Amino acid sequence: MVDTETFTLRQILSDDDTTKLSLGSEAYTPLKIFLKKTAFDFHQYEIAKTYVLVNQTSSPSRIWGYITLMNSEIVLNEGQRPQESTATSRYEAFPAIKIARLAVDKKLQGNGFGTRFLDWCINHIKLAIMPHVGCRFLVVDAKRDSIIFYQKSGFILLDTEANHSDEHPLMFFDLFRENGLPTGII
Ligand SMILES: CC(C)(COP(=O)(O)OP(=O)(O)OC[C@H]1O[C@@H](n2cnc3c(N)ncnc32)[C@H](O)[C@@H]1OP(=O)(O)O)[C@@H](O)C(=O)NCCC(=O)NCCS
Repeated sequence: MVDTETFTLRQILSDDDTTKLSLGSEAYTPLKIFLKKTAFDFHQYEIAKTYVLVNQTSSPSRIWGYITLMNSEIVLNEGQRPQESTATSRYEAFPAIKIARLAVDKKLQGNGFGTRFLDWCINHIKLAIMPHVGCRFLVVDAKRDSIIFYQKSGFILLDTEANHSDEHPLMFFDLFRENGLPTGII
């Protein structure tokens, strides 16, 4: 059994051990390569911010999962556009934060860490971004086999023909509609 209490989420550091993440399938190799070769550069040069799941007892910190976030926008069709006012319903491209990468180590999968990454991310945006800068949606180009995972946390598939057949269909989460109070962090 995994002792989830010993894990914590924090920003990536230059001396983190990025080499041990195991995802169990070659299809996920790009997620491992990004963590090893690109994540810290993107983080320090303000392209995308990476938050890593680490076990507090290990040093240097072995990374057990990560989420990478960056600015983005989403173009919605009429049926899915916000309808609060004529102004919002006329607008086409809405401000968003994109989950650029998300991965949980094979050994920890199925223990709720992926969901906790999403909950943390939504709370973080509500606390740190939405009070200061317009940001309506959380979006992700989902891998097809993770669509159900995202749907379970309230993400919706962009409803266009092209998107339904896309290898990485775009999914979105409406941060305004789902505007509950922020809860505890991971
Ligand atoms: C997708 C991923 C992040 C999920 O992380 P996780 O920690 O295993 O997810 P959780 O334990 O929080 O699962 C939450 C729910 O989603 C379900 N779920 C998770 N992955 C799923 C999948 N691939 N297919 C169907 N359901 C899935 C779980 O069964 C669970 O359902 P429940 O609440 O009814 O029990 C993880 O499997 C992973 O890193 N996969 C490889 C990389 C990847 O696909 N990343 C996403 C890139 S877009």
